[in-house]
Amino acid sequence: MSKIILTGDRPTGKLHVGHYVGSLRRRVELQNSGEYDKIFIMIADAQALTDNADNPEKIRQNIIEVALDYLSCGLDPNKSTLFIQSQIQELTELSFYYMNLVTVSRLQRNPTVKAEIQMRNFETSIPVGFFTYPISQAADITAFKATTVPVGEDQLPMIEQCREIVRKFNSVYGDTLVEPEALIPQTQACCRLPGIDGKAKMSKSLGNCIYLSDSADEVRTKVMSMFTDPNHLKITDPGSLEGNTVFTYLDAFCKEEHFGRYLPEYANLDELKAHYQRGGLGDVKVKKFLNNVMQEELEPIRNRRKELEKQIPDIYEILKKGSEVARQEAAKTMADVKAAMKINYFDDAALIASQAEKYAQD
Ligand code: TRP
Repeated sequence: MSKIILTGDRPTGKLHVGHYVGSLRRRVELQNSGEYDKIFIMIADAQALTDNADNPEKIRQNIIEVALDYLSCGLDPNKSTLFIQSQIQELTELSFYYMNLVTVSRLQRNPTVKAEIQMRNFETSIPVGFFTYPISQAADITAFKATTVPVGEDQLPMIEQCREIVRKFNSVYGDTLVEPEALIPQTQACCRLPGIDGKAKMSKSLGNCIYLSDSADEVRTKVMSMFTDPNHLKITDPGSLEGNTVFTYLDAFCKEEHFGRYLPEYANLDELKAHYQRGGLGDVKVKKFLNNVMQEELEPIRNRRKELEKQIPDIYEILKKGSEVARQEAAKTMADVKAAMKINYFDDAALIASQAEKYAQD
């Protein structure tokens, strides 16, 4: 069976380093591994509209931001199909039929939906489209017969729900859809990179994100203001790693080779952590090291972005071409689904013949 990747992001803002360590960096590695037959990367504008119905302009503006972030991280349109969700009408059509295979109570139990409803203070005024977005996400994945879905840990309930829909569909209508696997980050730090203030989630409204498009100065200022151990007042005090944002970021970004370049007194991150815990290592020194590590990773991305920003019409063209390719794939699955559900009346010569025969006898 061919190996196919599908994943995507909602275009509600620029992408930040949480997106990067949580999924984007891995996608680029998977893309370049050559192990996948097809890779689809989707800008999920229709999903973003499920809770931004009153602000389509925000989504419209952020499509190019996400595309710039994708390309500057190394997603390559010659290897991966980049496309826009709303341009693939089959996704909406599939969702409509999958809705019949999911109960309201099952959706209510989806932990991600539950958490998001709480976060958005929807209480009882949940838009139906938002409530059912796990179904539309199952359509996104299955339309491309994706086997692998690289996502952040928070998306696991979505993939589980998708797998259930696939099993249900296949058992009712016969083997048609492919059950996907989620691919989540290898380390805890990459699963949940906190905001620079130590809060669990990076979010635009909290103003605690480091964006992939931030300048070198912005990154440095943000790193130097990061939350650490509030009880680590004097350099000689023992420091704690628990909830210490600077160390969480080092877990996500630091490689052993960085020590040789920027902090040769230590062989690796374990030694640095041990010294911090013992006491005698100041926050500023660790932050300066983190800044060097992050700048090294972010600089090439920033430079590529600068170049790409001069080619905006070409980027829309990439998305348009990608959407055409994606549409053809989704149309194939749609035809399989219609045949399995027996709603392909006009292609079904046997149906027409048998109905004709039934009436011919009268
Ligand atoms: N829900 C995902 C997010 O919020 C975005 C998304 C939409 C997605 N459709 C998808 C991710 C399909 C993986 C597969 O980030």
